[in-house]
Amino acid sequence: MPHDSDHVQRVARIAMMIAEKEGGDVEVVRKAAELHDVARNEENHAIRGAEVARDILSRKGYSKEFIERVCHCIASHSFTSGVKPETLEAKILSDADKLDAIGAIGIARAFMYSGEKGRSIEDTLKHFEEKLLKLKDMMYTETGKKMAEERHRFLKEFYERIRKELRFEDIIVE
Ligand code: NI
Repeated sequence: MPHDSDHVQRVARIAMMIAEKEGGDVEVVRKAAELHDVARNEENHAIRGAEVARDILSRKGYSKEFIERVCHCIASHSFTSGVKPETLEAKILSDADKLDAIGAIGIARAFMYSGEKGRSIEDTLKHFEEKLLKLKDMMYTETGKKMAEERHRFLKEFYERIRKELRFEDIIVE
C-alpha cells in the first residue's frame, strides 16, 4: 500500500491514545506500531513482519523479553495470520490498525489502494462488505470499541450513500 509511513504514524498515534486509557507497556506498543508493517508487501505480512522485527531489534540490542513482547503484537495484528492477540499490547495494536482502516481515512485508503491495483468501485465496495464494515466487531479493547463507533457510523453512511447513487436513486427529475 502506498504512503505506508503515514499509516504507520497514524497507527502509532492511535495506539498511544488507546494505551493511555487501557494501560499496557507504552514502549512495547510504540515499537510494535512502528514495525508492524515492516513486511507489508510479503505474503503473511504479520508473521513475516515479526521475524524481520526480531532481527532488527536483536541487532539493536533490545532485551529478549522486550523483543518477544513486540513480536507477538506484530504477529497477531492481522486477522489472517491466525495468531490471536494474547497480551494487552497486542490487542491495542490490532485495534489501532483497524481504526485506520475505517472512517473517512479508511475510505480514502481503500480507494487509493484500489486505484493502484486498477480495481473498480464495485470491487472496492465488496471489500467494504467483506472486511471494512466488519472491523468494528473485531475490536478487543473497550477504548478501541468506543473509538470505532463514530468511524464505523461514517463508513456505513458513505457505503449506503454510494450504493444509492449507483442505483441513481439520489437523482431527482422534476
Ligand atoms: Ni497496518
